[in-house]
Amino acid sequence: MNQNRSHALFTRAQDLIPGGVNSPVRAFKSVGGEPFFAQRAEGAYLFDVDGNRYIDYVGSWGPMVAGHARPEVLAAVETTMRDGLSFGVPNALEVEMAEAITHIVPSCEMVRMVNSGTEATLSAIRVARGVTGRTRIVKFEGCYHGHGDSFLVKAGSGVMTLGLPNSPGVPDALADLTTTIPYNDFEAASALFEATGDEIAGLIIEPIVGNANCILPRDGYLQHLRELCTRHGALLIFDEVMTGFRVALGGAQARYGITPDLSTFGKIIGGGMPVGAYGGKREYMAQVAPSGPIYQAGTLSGNPVAMAAGLATLALIREPGFHDELERRTHQLCDGLEAAAREANVAFHTTRAPGMFGLYFREGPVETFEDAKASDAAKFKRFFHGMLERGVYLAPSAFEAGFMSSAHGDAEIAHTVKAARSVFSDMG
Ligand SMILES: Cc1ncc(COP(=O)(O)O)c(C=O)c1O
Repeated sequence: MNQNRSHALFTRAQDLIPGGVNSPVRAFKSVGGEPFFAQRAEGAYLFDVDGNRYIDYVGSWGPMVAGHARPEVLAAVETTMRDGLSFGVPNALEVEMAEAITHIVPSCEMVRMVNSGTEATLSAIRVARGVTGRTRIVKFEGCYHGHGDSFLVKAGSGVMTLGLPNSPGVPDALADLTTTIPYNDFEAASALFEATGDEIAGLIIEPIVGNANCILPRDGYLQHLRELCTRHGALLIFDEVMTGFRVALGGAQARYGITPDLSTFGKIIGGGMPVGAYGGKREYMAQVAPSGPIYQAGTLSGNPVAMAAGLATLALIREPGFHDELERRTHQLCDGLEAAAREANVAFHTTRAPGMFGLYFREGPVETFEDAKASDAAKFKRFFHGMLERGVYLAPSAFEAGFMSSAHGDAEIAHTVKAARSVFSDMG
């Protein structure tokens, strides 16, 4: 595969941008090699600057659940931008977005738009601290909530991929206020709340973990956390930046029937534009400035073009049957990959949620972060590159979930499984 232009761009970029990329996981550090540079994208495909085409299972890390460059989304963006790119005064599209989110996610009685998932989670823990008057935040090993100081403690995603789960630059005094416990461990959560429940402002969780590969909650686990938070007066925060509008229209909270106190969103609600949001119970959100004293602001928050892209994407995924079809396609892909691995005698396991999947080079089940870490990283690396050479782009890390979109149909899945069969047979 010719990647000369990508190589030339990466060489220039490395001199100017840390690691040559504007977000670490794009750099292929853990799988080796160099990233390709995108020229354009359409449906399930990415096209690079050298003219190569890839079936894309990253989907811009989640936003493109309805496929790339959907005409409906592009048209909404084009129409909106003709009226100006940013106003700095309120705009009707912000109200429409707030109505859409609060309608789709009933636990969000009020919502505030921000510009990224990181801003959403930072703001949510400020609200949790502000309304409870407590300081301690609880998170889970391997969960990633953006790069805010309080979250870079045993974090997943890129920090895990690079082996830096705690980051220099985060003051110990602040990191000490974050307690991490293992995901899916009922006892660890009970014991922590038993010991220090009255110090805990909020517990933040990816209800389905997508930043330590893809780990689903054990039966009753999210309910257990809900009960602990209620009993001890801590706020339950669902970080649905990844799962929101994907694993069900109403996100993981709809899929599992749990009502969190606060939720955070991003990715899909921006339709590919930079967006985040946080929302929750009215009594908590009403304490955010200017209606209350908890300060949070943003020059570009609620940007009209971003709202237009997000609203057009929400319209697409609100079509009846959208998420059922996404789930069926995810199973079709994962069943095909598992069958191909079995034929080649390669130890391999998948985990799945609608539109999300995890790939493991080990036997299942995978229910904990320790299970996920036990996947054979060297085999993943070979698989990743083998697939890339055959025109299939997977997340360049063994600690990131894969993403399906509604544009991944029979042809794309068949091509992916055929490529996997060939890579597995080289590995077996
Ligand atoms: C669950 C979760 N929360 C928060 C974030 C941070 O979002 P952003 O990268 O938009 O700041 C991410 C990013 O991948 C995420 O997956």
